[in-house]
Amino acid sequence: MNDEAPVLIEQQGPILRLSFNRPKALNALNAATLDAFTSALREVSSETRVIIVQGSGEKSFVAGADIAEMADLSPTEAAAFAAQGHEAANLIETLDAIVIAQVQGFALGGGCEMALACDMIIAGEKAKFGQPEVGLGVTPGFGGTTRLVRQVGLHRALQLLATGEIIKADQALAWGLVNEVVAQDELSNRVQAIAEMIAKNAPFAVAASKKSARAAAETDLRTANALEQQLFGLCFSTADQKEGMRAFIEKRKPAWSK
Ligand code: CAA
Repeated sequence: MNDEAPVLIEQQGPILRLSFNRPKALNALNAATLDAFTSALREVSSETRVIIVQGSGEKSFVAGADIAEMADLSPTEAAAFAAQGHEAANLIETLDAIVIAQVQGFALGGGCEMALACDMIIAGEKAKFGQPEVGLGVTPGFGGTTRLVRQVGLHRALQLLATGEIIKADQALAWGLVNEVVAQDELSNRVQAIAEMIAKNAPFAVAASKKSARAAAETDLRTANALEQQLFGLCFSTADQKEGMRAFIEKRKPAWSK
């Protein structure tokens, strides 16, 4: 592993850990880091079932997009930079693998936005969340207005967006911004345990559940229900459905086909 790389990539069987790796800048996202992250997501191997996204060091997940790099951007360049962030977030949402944000420390601006794009957020008790962009004269650019509204509702989202206030992990939990808050020194183990639980389940069924749930979050109920019915039917064309149900009846653990 190249310790100097902007994103560290560590594959352990079906679990891939991606670490934003600029700890001196609190893992701020510059264009090179976003490029490396996007490439890593594009190159995810077919054996990968779960991706854990984290920040290097104790202090920060990601403290936002890189302010020094953004300061002199033209409007066109800024829109292109936003597109880069959106591309990474869209990839997270469309991959078959389940993506878990493991948030220790700051998840601000672009960092909060990347966490929001993940399939779940597990936070350490020192985690802090916020969209402080208005204090810099800009709006969020990587989905902070859109995904935050869907996640916590309009009023709470606007409170964070308009005040720029940074909230602690317990408030993020109360608002439904994070799934769980765990002791800082147990964070990595807890996320690993969740990843292992996911990786034990049938691959197609997990991927189809993600697809269906993501559609439900984005479209009307009837359309999403129609997709769910199709995906349920499709499961019955897989060997894993036969194996999973037979294993239950025979009171043994299933052996998935991949
Ligand atoms: N961009 C660039 N550098 C950053 C950074 C960022 N977003 N956040 C932190 N850093 C750098 C600091 O400049 C500092 O570097 P130096 O040591 O070279 O001075 C280093 O990281 C450590 O930071 P601090 O000394 O500030 O640490 P602190 O503990 O005193 O404060 C903090 C921590 C409250 C997170 C503070 O660093 C901070 O407010 N950071 C900026 C947060 C922010 O506004 N994020 C939104 C960015 S805009 C955005 O993300 C737009 C978008 O949606 C796409």
